[in-house]
Amino acid sequence: MRKESRMAGKAGIIMKKIAAIVLSCMMCISLAACGSSDKGRTDTDTEIRSGDAAENSVRDGSAMETADVKEESSFNLETGTVMLNSGYEMPVLGIGMFRLSQSEAENSVYWALSDGYRLIDTAKIYGNEEGVGKGIKRAIDEGLVKREEIFVTTKMWTDDYDDGTEAIEASLRKLNLDYIDLMILHHSQPENDVDAYKAMEKAVKEGKLKSIGLSNYYEPDDFDRLVKATEITPALLQNETHPYHQSMKMKEHLKQYGTVMESWFPLGGRGNTQRLFEDETISEIAKAHGKTSAQIILRWHLQAGNIAIPGSSNEDHIQENYEIFDFELTDEEMERMTALDKDERFASY
Ligand SMILES: NC(=O)c1ccc[n+]([C@@H]2O[C@H](COP(=O)([O-])OP(=O)(O)OC[C@H]3O[C@@H](n4cnc5c(N)ncnc54)[C@H](OP(=O)(O)O)[C@@H]3O)[C@@H](O)[C@H]2O)c1
Repeated sequence: MRKESRMAGKAGIIMKKIAAIVLSCMMCISLAACGSSDKGRTDTDTEIRSGDAAENSVRDGSAMETADVKEESSFNLETGTVMLNSGYEMPVLGIGMFRLSQSEAENSVYWALSDGYRLIDTAKIYGNEEGVGKGIKRAIDEGLVKREEIFVTTKMWTDDYDDGTEAIEASLRKLNLDYIDLMILHHSQPENDVDAYKAMEKAVKEGKLKSIGLSNYYEPDDFDRLVKATEITPALLQNETHPYHQSMKMKEHLKQYGTVMESWFPLGGRGNTQRLFEDETISEIAKAHGKTSAQIILRWHLQAGNIAIPGSSNEDHIQENYEIFDFELTDEEMERMTALDKDERFASY
C-alpha cells in the first residue's frame, strides 16, 4: 500500500518534471524569438540534468535549478516522503537508534520495518550499526521489505574526520550494506569537517553513499562555511528540534539550499519527554484528536516540515509513533504548537 503510494508520488514528480521541460521549451522558443536563445537552451539543459540524482545537488549557480530544488523539497504526507535536493525520495518518519544496544537496535529495526517504517537513523558512535544491519537483514529475509525500499542513515563521528573514506567503509561493513542512503557528519568541527565532507562527496561519486548532509550546525554562518568549501549541497541538516526548540532560524536559512530539517530529540529525548507530553497545549490537542501526546508532537513535526526519527526500544511505542497518518492538525492547532517555541535546547552539544 505504502509502496503503491510512493510510486504514485514518483509518477507525480516525473509529470512535474515533464511539465517543467515543456514549459522550458516554450520559454526557449519565446526567448529565441526575442534573440535570447542561448539563455533558453541553458535553462532547459539544467532542468533535464536535475533529474539525475547524483548531479542534482551539485551547485551550478542556475536560478532555474534552485527553483526546481525548492519545489521538490516540500513534504508529501500522502506518501509520507520528501524529495531531497539530491534527487532521492526520503521517508519523513523513521526510527532513531540513540542509546540502543545491538540487540535492542536489531529488534527495534525489525519491529519498525514490520509496522511500515522505511527510515532508520543510526550513527557509528551509537555502537549499534551491526544490530541495525541484522534487523534489516531479518526483515528482508522474511520478505517484509526489499533493500531499495529502506532508507538508512548513519553518521560519521568527529574522531574519524581525518580519514573519512575508511569511516564510510567501516559503516558499510558494520551495516552489512552495499550502499548507505544518507551519511551525515555528526558535528560541526571547523578544523577538519570539510575534509570529511569531501570524503563523503567522493563516496557519492562511487555510488557508496546516495545523499549526504550534516548534523549539529546551529549557526547559519557555520553551515555556509562548509557549503562554500564543498560541491554537493547538504541534502539534510539534523539538529535538536522539538516544540520547545523549533529551529526556525536555521529552517529559514536552509530554504535557499533546498536542504530539509530533520529533528533529533523529536519528543524531547530521554529524561525530557514527560515535560512535552504533559504540556497543557499538547495534552489538550491530543485529547481533541483521541491521540497520545507523542503522536501529536510527531504529527506536528511532519506538518511543520521536519523529518522526525523518534527513538524507542518499546514495540508498542514504535507502533504508536507510526500511527500518525490518519489525522491532521488544524491551522489553529499548528499555530498553538508554534507558540510553544521557547528556543530551549535540552542537550548541551
Ligand atoms: N545527531 C545527533 O547528535 C543526535 C542526537 C540525539 C539523537 N539523535 C537521533 O535522533 C533520534 C531521536 O532522539 P532520541 O531517541 O534521543 O529522543 P526522542 O526520540 O525525543 O525520545 C526518545 C525517548 O522517548 C521515549 N518514547 C518514544 N516513543 C514514545 C511513546 N510513544 N510514548 C512514550 N515514550 C516514548 C523512548 O522510550 P522507549 O524506548 O521506552 O519508547 C525514549 O526514552 C535518536 O534515536 C537518534 O537516532 C541524533
